Order: sequence, then C-alpha cells, then structure tokens
Amino acid sequence: MKDVYILGIETSCDETSCSIVKNGVEEVNTVVLSQIDIHMLYGGVVPEIASRNHVKDIVFVIDKCLKDSSVTMDDISAIAVTYGPGLVGSLLVGIEAAKTISYIYNKPLVPVHHIRSHIYANAIGKGLEFPLMALIISGGHTELLYMKDHFDYKLVGSTLDDAVGECYDKVARVLGIPYPGGPVIDKMAHEGVDNYKLPVPMNNDSFNFSFSGLKSAVINLAHNLEQRGELLVKKDLACSFQNVVVESLASKTVRAMEKYNANNLILAGGVAANRGIREKFSNLSMEKGFNFSYPDIKYCTDNATMVAAAGYYLFTNGIVSDLDINAESGAKFV
Ligand code: KG4
Ligand code: ZN
Repeated sequence: MKDVYILGIETSCDETSCSIVKNGVEEVNTVVLSQIDIHMLYGGVVPEIASRNHVKDIVFVIDKCLKDSSVTMDDISAIAVTYGPGLVGSLLVGIEAAKTISYIYNKPLVPVHHIRSHIYANAIGKGLEFPLMALIISGGHTELLYMKDHFDYKLVGSTLDDAVGECYDKVARVLGIPYPGGPVIDKMAHEGVDNYKLPVPMNNDSFNFSFSGLKSAVINLAHNLEQRGELLVKKDLACSFQNVVVESLASKTVRAMEKYNANNLILAGGVAANRGIREKFSNLSMEKGFNFSYPDIKYCTDNATMVAAAGYYLFTNGIVSDLDINAESGAKFV
C-alpha cells in the first residue's frame, strides 16, 4: 500500500508549528517555534501578539519543515490544520496557510479539533489501543473521554469551572512564579513536603472536576499567612496543591475506567507533562493492571506532529473539507 504523508499545521495558541507524519505514526520532520518568552513578559498569552507572531513565522516554519525533510509536496497526501478551539486570530493564520497550500498543490484539507490532536500525541510511534480512557488536561481543558474507536467516543466528565492547567498557572502567579507556572510548581512540589491542608474538590461520585475552589483555598491560605506575618513555604504549598490535584484526577479516572471497562489509559494535553500525575498513574497501572501511556514531553505542549497524526486517521476515513472552513475558537469535541 502507498505510504500516506500528512502535512500538519498548528497555530491555535502561542506555538507556530508544521510537521510531516508518515502513516499516522512516524514523525518525518517537525518544526515548532514557541512564543513563550514573548508572552512571559505579560504574565500570559496576549492574543493579538500571538497572531502577529504567527503571521511573521508561519511561512518560515512550513518552508523549513519541508526543506529539512526528504519529503516533497508531491509525496504529501493531505494538509491537516487545527480549526479550533483556540485564539481566533492565531487559528486563522494556520488555516489560511493550509488553505493556500491545499489550493496551490491541489491537496485535500483536513480540519482537526485541538483535543483530537492532543489525544493523538499518544499515537506517535505506536498507534492507539481501544477501548481507552483519555484524561485530557491542558490550559483550557480537563476532560475524561471514553473512546471505543477513533470515531466512537463519549464524554464521561469535565471541569465545571477552571481547567487544571489554568489552576496551576493561577496558583503560580500567587506564588510569584512567571507564566506558565505549571512546570515550575511541578518541580517545586517534588522538593517540598505535604504540610498544608487543602480540600479535595468534588470528592464525590461524580466524574466531573472542579478546580476553582482549590485555587481559592491556596490563594486565601497564602494571603492569610502573609497578613499574619507567618512564613509561607512555597515548595510545601506546591507539594500539597499538587497532591490534591493528582488525587482528584486519579480517583475519578480510575473509577471511570472501572465503570466503562477500559483497560487502556492515555494522558493528553500540556499538563500531561506533569511528573506527579505520571508517577501516580504509573503506580496505579501496576497496582490495578491497566495499560498506561502518555506522550513524549515534546508532544505534550502544542505541536503539529499530533495534528498530522490525528489528521491521518481523519483523512484515511474520508473526513476532508473544502476551502470554506473557518476558525472556530469555541469548537466542541463532543
Ligand atoms: O496543552 P497546552 O500546551 O495548551 C492548551 O491547549 O491549553 O497546555 C498548557 C498548560 C499550561 O497551563 C501549563 O502551565 C501546563 O500546561 N503545564 C503543566 C506542566 N507543563 C505544562 N502543568 C503542570 N505540570 C507541568 N509539568
Ligand atoms: Zn493544547
């Protein structure tokens, strides 16, 4: 059978990325330009600045990705691009680039939902094993998704308020840690001791999550200690906070897997890089005998490799679109 090469493009937030993936699993080449150093100065992603940088970088990124690989446009079967959710100006840059290439080279266009891409970061190098439970944890999402197959899935639970990554970033800000705070809190958590008592959110039968109460508890605790002139041991607070997050994610995920009889667990999204979360699920998988996998760190944050990997399964199942696709900043996956 002829090899299928997908060219993927990702610009949903603050990474400009292009990738070529062979047969949905083999990364041929990827280029990612991160704007993190720029947005760090503002304490978070500034949408207009993100779009401007995508405009500046997109042609260079696509060009470099193709030039540094052995693949030419003749070999490419389809162009996959993130259509949403994300920042509308950022999304539009990637979409317009994808449409242009699709038109000029007469290649099908494959619109990819950002959550699907994060899930398929797990397929790079190895494919996916169904049925599976996907725990999607990022700056904008906290979702438990049961997947019977590539196109047969059901939302089991989601956050009622803040996403877990958002909660990490807000707690980090209170502790004086620059954006994005998640990786720093994770590191501090491993250096600290669980000395602060924090509430485990939504500690009930529901598969839904809630993180805003936990965030407020951390902020109040820090402010109260400050007002009383008492010492706040930041690494201990990071440790206590992370333990509560891990506990909440782990207990609901394991219960959901039992309910749905899913023996495979995958993590997806930027927070899947978290060491505490990975360690907890690794231990649980050995204890309970389920298969657990998570993406390589470089595929956890936004990148086009996962877009091209996801695009392969859409394309080979005939899911393509014409040139009138638009950015959908609030696109729902389920
Ligand atoms: O998936 P992603 O790149 O962007 C979205 O699609 O939202 O995720 C970014 C989020 C940020 O909130 C960042 O703080 C968080 O992932 N993050 C982490 C870690 N690495 C990144 N959170 C906790 N622990 C980490 N090690
Ligand atoms: Zn993302």
